[in-house]
Amino acid sequence: MARDQNSYLTSRLRGFGSTIFAEMTALADEKAAINLGQGFPDYDGPSVVLDAAVDAIRSGQNQYPPGPGIADLRLAVAEHQRRFYGLSYEPDGEVLITAGATEALAGAVLGILEAGDEVVLLEPMYDSYQACIALAGAVTRPVTLRPPAYGLDLEALRAAVTPRTRMILLNTPHNPTGAVLEREELQGIADLAVEHDLIVVSDEVYEHLVYDGAQHVSIASLPGMRDRTLVISSGGKTFNTTGWKVGWICGPAKLVAATRAAKQFLTYVSSGPFQPAIAVGLRLPDEYFVGLAADLRRKRDRLTRGLVSAGFETFTPRGTYFVTVDIRPLRSDGDGYAFCRELPDRCGVVGIPNVVFYDRSHEREGRHLVRFAFCKRDEVIDEAVERLMGVAS
Ligand SMILES: Cc1ncc(COP(=O)(O)O)c(C=O)c1O
Repeated sequence: MARDQNSYLTSRLRGFGSTIFAEMTALADEKAAINLGQGFPDYDGPSVVLDAAVDAIRSGQNQYPPGPGIADLRLAVAEHQRRFYGLSYEPDGEVLITAGATEALAGAVLGILEAGDEVVLLEPMYDSYQACIALAGAVTRPVTLRPPAYGLDLEALRAAVTPRTRMILLNTPHNPTGAVLEREELQGIADLAVEHDLIVVSDEVYEHLVYDGAQHVSIASLPGMRDRTLVISSGGKTFNTTGWKVGWICGPAKLVAATRAAKQFLTYVSSGPFQPAIAVGLRLPDEYFVGLAADLRRKRDRLTRGLVSAGFETFTPRGTYFVTVDIRPLRSDGDGYAFCRELPDRCGVVGIPNVVFYDRSHEREGRHLVRFAFCKRDEVIDEAVERLMGVAS
């Protein structure tokens, strides 16, 4: 019997389609447009990290690494967590290496949740969250962050927790808004987690990309939180190696073991020769991490200035490498999706419509917002701005 393409898709994934990043990057390639959509840098990371990967390949580290990840990377992750956050993890059992933060997240969600469990998370949200939660048969309960400041409404968070809530899924620094949760906000979340005995999963992939004196605080470092929190991060954003997909998850052994039980049937292992290279990166001196943030702050200011002069209302991020704009000054119907679809033809620039980061039922919250990435070479940012100026005129 003939079936249309969609009828083969599990009902759990209906409505998710293909990721917006694939769609917009394909559009950028097709139209030879400047891709300020997907969050990857157009420049390389530190050469010692790249050289370490080449050395690993040349020295024969090209087979399956151990299931939990190579021992030296697990040790380097544990050292990194202690160095930056004062958190101590046992490399054997409390640190697991994954295929990027994406797999860490999938492993935690699929390994821990039962069908029908509820997950409270911040909206707008990175697009894999909702799909993974749906695959687990669990239910998403979004709490919306709103511009201009994108602060967390703790009362709304409290109201989203029900007797079925099992997990709070955080992301700070936050994609796409660039918000960095304050210690008081994290304390409010922690109080709620303790009161309702909830697991917290904290996606911290932008942990080193914070600006203007903002400080990234890992919720696991708050009193009473280490043993109910899984911290996720990866090397992609910190070392400009998004294609290597080396991620990790740290937490109490019982939660890491549950994550690993699912992870072993997803990829089993990945990124063999890139694992020792990321260990080198994690041990770089403080100047590297400070320089990375300083450089990106300059890029943020460069793009933000340009977007303001092109006529957008712009919300300056304190973290990540994304800036969100309100397009309504340039397009009165406020249709961000249509705007992004037309932009490559109109001026040769690609952005991401923030509407895709919202739950279906809340789409109006993000309809008029568009995200641009500033992790690009200065000349590329300047060229993009010049092109965008054309849209305004
Ligand atoms: C919030 C967030 N989490 C996770 C990821 C994916 O990280 P990785 O490439 O390490 O899987 C991204 C990538 O853009 C992200 O923005």
